Amino acid sequence: MHISVIGCGYLGAVHAACMASLGHEVIGLDMDESKTVQLNSGVPPFYEPDFAGLLAEQVGEGRLEFTTDPGRITQAQIHFIAVGTPQLAGRYAADLSYLRAAVRTLVEVADTAQGPAVIAGKSTVPVGTAQHIQQVCDDSGKDLIVVWNPEFLREGFAVADTLHPDRIVYGLPDDLHRAEVGRRFLDDCYAGLLAAGTPRLLTNHPTAELVKVAANSFLATKISFINAMAQLCDATGGDVTQLAEAIGYDDRIGKKFLRAGVGFGGGCLPKDIRAFMARAGELGVDEALTFLREVDAINLRQRDKAVEMASKLLGGRFVGHKVAVLGAAFKPDSDDLRDSPALEVAQQIWSRGADLVITDPAAADALRSKRPNLNVVDTVAEAVAGADAVLLLTEWQEYRDLDPLELRALVRTPNIVDGRNVLDPQRWQDAGWTYRGMGRHGGPAAAEQRV
Ligand code: UDX
Repeated sequence: MHISVIGCGYLGAVHAACMASLGHEVIGLDMDESKTVQLNSGVPPFYEPDFAGLLAEQVGEGRLEFTTDPGRITQAQIHFIAVGTPQLAGRYAADLSYLRAAVRTLVEVADTAQGPAVIAGKSTVPVGTAQHIQQVCDDSGKDLIVVWNPEFLREGFAVADTLHPDRIVYGLPDDLHRAEVGRRFLDDCYAGLLAAGTPRLLTNHPTAELVKVAANSFLATKISFINAMAQLCDATGGDVTQLAEAIGYDDRIGKKFLRAGVGFGGGCLPKDIRAFMARAGELGVDEALTFLREVDAINLRQRDKAVEMASKLLGGRFVGHKVAVLGAAFKPDSDDLRDSPALEVAQQIWSRGADLVITDPAAADALRSKRPNLNVVDTVAEAVAGADAVLLLTEWQEYRDLDPLELRALVRTPNIVDGRNVLDPQRWQDAGWTYRGMGRHGGPAAAEQRV
């Protein structure tokens, strides 16, 4: 099929390359020329495992191309919209300006003289958006069928999640004929994935839009739930990692997304729950989602807790102390700094006067341009040299594998805050470190003291 993908960020660029790998002819459209030039040379503008090889292969085979010229996408049978819908400055609601611009472009350039084309929305949007876009298309007189086809990919697993999704959702228009045409177009596009047995759910527009924000809200709630339990563990000498394991054996609860720590961040979960609350307010059902306010608040408190933990280890003062932060990206295997808990904790500690040094295996360059105030170094050894406290805030494998004895020889004072609960406390304590985790530093000894 001939396919266009509008918006070539983490979502769109990966989707475009994956669709090309399924055998389609794909053109990615983005307004940022330097990005399209880079993508056309087969080099990803961001870090994402498995993406570089796939991009180079598909561009090399001539099935995938990137452009800033909307005139190049006129003949596509399916136009995927994958533009960002970030949080509006100072508000909870989503900024839909990129989405509106994409729809304007499509209505202008899509050629439907020989038959209908499908607009497949992948961006996360407030419920009601798809129906509005369908109306805009109808008003234009073009035969454009809107299908909402939410994307559930995780950064760090973007290629695998796109090519082997848990499920595919089509939010179809109410008109039965259009719904049938839209379904057929997307079935042809995803034929390979459907043949592999991927479940496909057919819904109306609002359900599909809600599926995405409901999924992200549920995941955020799970993380905040376990972080709330971490606070209880801290107050009582319990260990939240054992608690999570024990409740996770109940398969109604499950073990995934119960890792307590500095909490969730990134370009999706935080802004999606806020936009969902804003939309519920507009719809007059805000009380249905007030719990998400607490989910957000618990999450943000974890960042403050990590700062306080480090402060306590340093006798209540950051001034005059060197603090090493390991990790800046919002999660490992990504260079994405958007709403990163690690970066916010680092920034807070820096603002309170510490001599702060930060490192990250993939995000160091992005960090240097985004936060020129911070002292960014390339290696763990440079970061921790002479440190009075080390904070592990993004759980990259190389940080999980650190040897506490080797590291001890480099620091001035062996204080470690394990902001992701990925280190073995006993091993670090045996090597002479003062260890603090999130909801696990109490342990039996602390409980005994309290009794
Ligand atoms: C998320 C959704 O998982 C994905 O389905 C959606 O399409 C986009 O948003 P992503 O933002 O890439 O994906 O990352 P995810 O793996 O969900 O992690 C989000 C944040 O939660 C990260 O900051 C991560 O460190 C944190 N997290 C995750 C926890 O703090 N604890 C956990 O147990 C799991």
